[in-house]
Amino acid sequence: MHIRYDNFSYAILILTLSFLIFATWFWIYKIKPYLINLKIKKQLQQHSEWRRLEETEQFLIQLYKKTNPYQTSRKECKRMAIKSNEFVYGEISWLSFFTILDKVNPQPYETFYDLGCGSGKAVFTAALFFDLSKACGVELLPALHTLANEQIDKAKSLIKLFDTDFYKSYTKRITQIQFLNENFIDTKLSDADIVFINATCLKPETWQTVINKLLQLQSGSRVIVNTKRIEHEKFTLIHQAKELMSWGMSTISIYKVT
Ligand SMILES: C[S@@+](CC[C@H](N)C(=O)[O-])C[C@H]1O[C@@H](n2cnc3c(N)ncnc32)[C@H](O)[C@@H]1O
Repeated sequence: MHIRYDNFSYAILILTLSFLIFATWFWIYKIKPYLINLKIKKQLQQHSEWRRLEETEQFLIQLYKKTNPYQTSRKECKRMAIKSNEFVYGEISWLSFFTILDKVNPQPYETFYDLGCGSGKAVFTAALFFDLSKACGVELLPALHTLANEQIDKAKSLIKLFDTDFYKSYTKRITQIQFLNENFIDTKLSDADIVFINATCLKPETWQTVINKLLQLQSGSRVIVNTKRIEHEKFTLIHQAKELMSWGMSTISIYKVT
């Protein structure tokens, strides 16, 4: 009888702990992001082009509905025997990334780069919400690069289901998207005006190499960095805030190249 009581207490303890862990996970990764997204939406409803923004977000949600970039990344790392934390997967959140990009004021003659683009969500956000001359994603893992490229073909088919005005303006924007399968250390950035790098998991040595590379950017270019900082006289910090990412809130810094 005594032993049964102990086992019962043990079971209750395990259940309570499991529930607490699940509740914390659910709060951090589901409820909190949902509430923050709702707040962003409320603010954007005052935007003069809210209808177009809403329709674009719906399009992007539908475009990525049946994809699982986390699983693709995990399987590819396993296949290629990659153990480095630099390949831990995480993504932007649609409207949050729109508000970040809005702060760098993208222009129709400008080119956007995402260094380490994964399935291409940041590239699609830049290309569809803004008028740019090119939006380019660079990804080292072949399976993620293939997934990103497949999304271009999917987008071309999906756009036909939307109303004609939407179709007309966005077909051109989709053709301006490009994905490169290479190490971003080797990427030529001579035509880059806006560079995004989700640098949270990069090792200090890699980050220093990236900074040296970014020094080649032309004056007036903007760099959007997640988590890491750039301490160099050529880069002026123009904005810093906590923004929503797929794993929660993260510090975004925006620099202008002088
Ligand atoms: C945190 S994810 C960011 C994905 C995307 N930029 C976003 O924010 O939605 C980082 C991506 O960078 C890729 N990556 C890491 N090191 C890389 C390198 N040296 N060259 C190219 N891609 C790299 C990873 O495979 C992963 O897909």
